[in-house]
Amino acid sequence: MSERSERTRESFRELWASLLPIGRERSTGGYRRFAWTPADLACRAWFREQAERRGLRTEVDRNGNLWAWWGEPSADGPRAVVTGSHLDSVPDGGAYDGPLGIVSAFAAIDDLRARGMQPARPLAIVAFADEEGARFGVACAGSRLMTGALDPARTRELRDIDGVTLAEAMAAAGHDPTLLGRDPERLRLIDTFVELHIEQGRGLVDLDAPVGVATGIWPHGRWRLDFQGAADHAGTTRLPDRRDPMLPFARAVLAARDIAAGAEALATIGRVYVVPGAANGVPSAVHAWLDARAAEEDAVIRVVEKLYAGALRAAEGHGVGVAIERESWTAGVDFGPGLRKRLAQLVAPAGRTAAPALPTGAGHDAGVLAAEVPAAMLFVRNPTGVSHSPAEHAEEADCLRGVDALATVLAELAG
Ligand code: HGY
Ligand code: MN
Ligand code: MN
Repeated sequence: MSERSERTRESFRELWASLLPIGRERSTGGYRRFAWTPADLACRAWFREQAERRGLRTEVDRNGNLWAWWGEPSADGPRAVVTGSHLDSVPDGGAYDGPLGIVSAFAAIDDLRARGMQPARPLAIVAFADEEGARFGVACAGSRLMTGALDPARTRELRDIDGVTLAEAMAAAGHDPTLLGRDPERLRLIDTFVELHIEQGRGLVDLDAPVGVATGIWPHGRWRLDFQGAADHAGTTRLPDRRDPMLPFARAVLAARDIAAGAEALATIGRVYVVPGAANGVPSAVHAWLDARAAEEDAVIRVVEKLYAGALRAAEGHGVGVAIERESWTAGVDFGPGLRKRLAQLVAPAGRTAAPALPTGAGHDAGVLAAEVPAAMLFVRNPTGVSHSPAEHAEEADCLRGVDALATVLAELAG
């Protein structure tokens, strides 16, 4: 192993080992790093410590995104090359989704510095706030606020399951929520944004490549379904007299699968909240969240419309009301072919002229930034394809190839 590879491996291992225990749930091995919770703040402290150890200036922008700078950006100087991802997780998420991009960014900068690089542009690592939307329901909240794709007033009022607003949670973490909003000055500082992320699928396994580039992101969204019935006694209420919201809900879950299968789409109901949740009571309400995705936007809309129409019919038959509200929407993303092809050639694996290019159904901050600045994604092979699970894993050798690829891209873009 070359001295450079050895150095990168040590840097990666140290970064990875120091972040790994933060926000990890002992009982499941998964992560619960939800926005503005103590686990999130501990991840932020880790980011600042790693940055300061490297002499990188850190700052938090008006939307809570965390930045580490190598070189000072200025409105009239060369624009910056930015890399990064997110540190927050889904409930019981894996260790790689998000953090691999941040750890690889620090390790790539270590490598460039060790090789004496003096960037011609400022370089930054960014940890976007609340990418998963696990607590407040909106995906990519930090990057969407920065680009203006998310209304600050509506965002401040988002509530978690305990009724805490995002504004209250941010304020409690020492961040002024009245500052939320589009950040044009910051966007003007960015020449290119590149996000490295573990692939959330088996595309690179099938293509037998350790690193790939993203062609685009499927359109996808999240809808909240509220089934309103009437609480009653499980032991004394006759079946015909019940207004049980669980029944149309159950039908909707099964229908989601059938409708998606018929529309070449994906539909998931992975979160449900039953009120009051008594084992011996007919529930008064059932709150459920639908995640729907497809290669084409109109296929997603068709799935949701069909599902809601069926839920209404099923609910009516049980004297139950049902309402639907779109909580999060991500339009399809097509990463510009120019930058993508340039990166694919730069990170080509041995014996090939370019790294493979592949789409993803997973949302990313790079997809949000792509609406405003040239953006691209590097994927690192995921041997099982599993993600949003404690079982998510990538081989260290592939992670190190990812660091090398990111370092090569940053050196090329930052000159
Ligand atoms: O939901 C997603 O696709 C991403 O993990 N936020
Ligand atoms: Mn994720
Ligand atoms: Mn992610």
